[in-house]
Amino acid sequence: MTPPAVIELRGVGKTYYSGEIATPVLFDISFPVRRGEFIAIVGGSGSGKTTLLNLMGLLDRPTTGEVLIEGEQAGHLDELGRAKVRRERLGFIFQFHYLLPEFTVIENALMPCRMKGADYHDQQEPRMRKLLETVGLGEKLRSRPAQLSGGQQQRVAVVRSLANDPALVLADEPTGNLDSRSGRVVFDLMRTLSRESGTTFVMVTHDDDFALEADRVIRIRDGRIEKSAERG
Ligand SMILES: Nc1ncnc2c1ncn2[C@@H]1O[C@H](COP(=O)(O)OP(=O)(O)OP(=O)(O)O)[C@@H](O)[C@H]1O
Ligand SMILES: [Mg+2]
Repeated sequence: MTPPAVIELRGVGKTYYSGEIATPVLFDISFPVRRGEFIAIVGGSGSGKTTLLNLMGLLDRPTTGEVLIEGEQAGHLDELGRAKVRRERLGFIFQFHYLLPEFTVIENALMPCRMKGADYHDQQEPRMRKLLETVGLGEKLRSRPAQLSGGQQQRVAVVRSLANDPALVLADEPTGNLDSRSGRVVFDLMRTLSRESGTTFVMVTHDDDFALEADRVIRIRDGRIEKSAERG
């Protein structure tokens, strides 16, 4: 039996409502993501990329259709149910790193483990320390985010996204705030982690060079999939 897709969207649509005003943003989006895939989502500003990623990450609920995580219907769970799936199976990287300023690098990286309990936190500490060393931050474990460069901060955010050993990492323009050199370092890091640990990544990006290095590129236009292309 083939294992279920890490995540699958079936006929997903999203309309935002504000009072009487309805703003339809996504229409009938369907695709599965296989384990270990690295997917880039591209498209113009306002095309619906962040909305799509938020639905995949269970940060918001679809208006129509269903989001399945590892074969289980999850898109319409209530806030508590979705938070549980997020905490246990998903990792997030945003354009801004959202590191907590009063905590050190290693504490920030371990923050999602803390939410899973003290035992899990202590158990994961060596793995997270090693990952931070791998990404070149071994000397910075006890530094605070403000003492790091933008690229270093974002590397911590990438490591943090792996804290709960997620089935899927969702990244919304993770290199969007960085200069091209730091952006390249952060992207290569994600790409290497996906190859070495088999972690599945879905990344929104404006950078065509990065998109070309993904296993598959999904192009969104006016809330619909315009094109989905595998790398040949
Ligand atoms: N909460 C909301 N209420 C109403 N409309 C919204 C809301 N959030 C987003 N939109 C609208 O939905 C559309 C898609 O927005 P979205 O943020 O998904 O675009 P995007 O592709 O991520 O754009 P960008 O590349 O600029 O980040 C836009 O027209 C936006 O104005
Ligand atoms: Mg966006």
